[in-house]
Amino acid sequence: MHIVRSLVSGPLDADAPGGVRTIANPARLDEIVSEAHLGDAETFLQACRVAKAAQPAWSSVPAPVRGRTIQQLGRLVEDNAEALARLITQEIGKPFKESRGEVQEVIDTCSFFLGEGRRLYGMTVPSEMPDKQLFTFRTPVGVAAIITAGNFPVAVPSWYVVPALLCGNAVVWKPAEYTPAIAEAFAQLILHAGLPEGTFQMVLADGPETFAGLERALDEGVVDKVGFTGSTAVGERLGELCGRHLQTPCLELGGKNPLVVMPDADLDLAVEGALFSGFGTAGQRCTSLGTAIVHRDVHEDFVDRFTKAVAEAPIGDPNRDVLYGPMIDERFAVRFEDWLGLIRDHHHVHGSSAVGRITRTARREGFVGDDPEAGFFYHPTIVDGVRAEDDLYRIETFGPIVGVASFDTFDEAIALANGHGYGLSSSIYTTDPLHAFRFRERVSAGMVSVNNSTSGAEAHLPFGGNGRSGNGSRQSGVWVLDQFTRWQAMNWDYSGHLQKAQMDVADVAADLSYRLPE
Ligand code: UN1
Repeated sequence: MHIVRSLVSGPLDADAPGGVRTIANPARLDEIVSEAHLGDAETFLQACRVAKAAQPAWSSVPAPVRGRTIQQLGRLVEDNAEALARLITQEIGKPFKESRGEVQEVIDTCSFFLGEGRRLYGMTVPSEMPDKQLFTFRTPVGVAAIITAGNFPVAVPSWYVVPALLCGNAVVWKPAEYTPAIAEAFAQLILHAGLPEGTFQMVLADGPETFAGLERALDEGVVDKVGFTGSTAVGERLGELCGRHLQTPCLELGGKNPLVVMPDADLDLAVEGALFSGFGTAGQRCTSLGTAIVHRDVHEDFVDRFTKAVAEAPIGDPNRDVLYGPMIDERFAVRFEDWLGLIRDHHHVHGSSAVGRITRTARREGFVGDDPEAGFFYHPTIVDGVRAEDDLYRIETFGPIVGVASFDTFDEAIALANGHGYGLSSSIYTTDPLHAFRFRERVSAGMVSVNNSTSGAEAHLPFGGNGRSGNGSRQSGVWVLDQFTRWQAMNWDYSGHLQKAQMDVADVAADLSYRLPE
């Protein structure tokens, strides 16, 4: 069993001021994986103070050398990839292949940003006056407080931590409290990559204590940037808090991601995409499919094929070849049961032999494993007949449930794709480029797939959403650099006298009366 405490430089006042939690393997509840000794608001504040003191020295390390640190981190993660992936599968029940993919996403993120250490470009810009030069520089923001969910317990944190460090910021990371062993493992890899003391800290704490600690840290001026991946409700509160300090957090929130199936779509491909989008990771991705929006002409055919694919999908032991394993934590299982209550009489339910938890009586045909009751395993549920006025259409349901709606016109499809107010990812299945580009133009989502899953974004494209999915911030690739640096403009006048902008600028003597011969 892993006993995990916060990793904060300097002595901690108490061992577990926020209490102790034990974490069971969600696929085998009798196996205790870890014991989290939680910190409290004070622990969080202490970590931010240490980070604030450490940050100037780190920012004065040349960016290419910081890039080398990121390179070493990437190597460490690669050399420990199997062990880290095994821990992910053990602590949150993600199928091993996906866990390994998630670790790969960390390696890819390091590979991208190690080179950014040699770029981090600014510009030289011509001045309107002679003997004067203009420049732009990227400067680090300061201390970044990163608060992340547990469904992607290393990949999503890496999207923040890696660029934040590369840009010369110090980082305080608050992982989900139900993934302490994974958090400790990833934090140790980061700490072994060669960072100066205090540059990176990991605080284990629950949500309310973290919020209280963050409030105090912002008041004290020891946090300069907040990054958060999690629910829209918490994102709204964090946005308000940061706004009071004139800060814009990087918010990556929920989604109700649509997958539109046009009548000209390759239906088998659309079904394969819907299966992975909706039920991969047991629907516990922010990019998971919410509602399949299917043209009336192919609706019945799509639902038949989708039902067959879902009914046949292997579900169970995440160490074996399954589409999905258990819910990642008890709280997700409990919330999912609530969301199943959104199914109404006018809906038609498909996809499994029962709805809700897979048990010895509510069996799942072909369940992979000995005893479904050993873990938090849930039946996959397709809900056909979803309409715009349904709760199921509007509410993000983090779990293995997918709605299906129908449409007649393209305008109706767009209205359904956007009408819930989220705007994270989206997908269209069509063989007509016109539909693909029109969808791209009109869908409100930050990410659009054509003939591909709503989930599974590559690690170097801008990741983020609009509306209820976020505040327009983007992670990953070059775009995230704007989250972790500020642009500084510099001008240097070497003319030896004061040249006033806009006033002491040479004019151009054009003859504006000139006309071409008729
Ligand atoms: C999340 O669920 O918060 O695009 C992130 C995807 C993954 C990341 C999901 N690469 O589905």
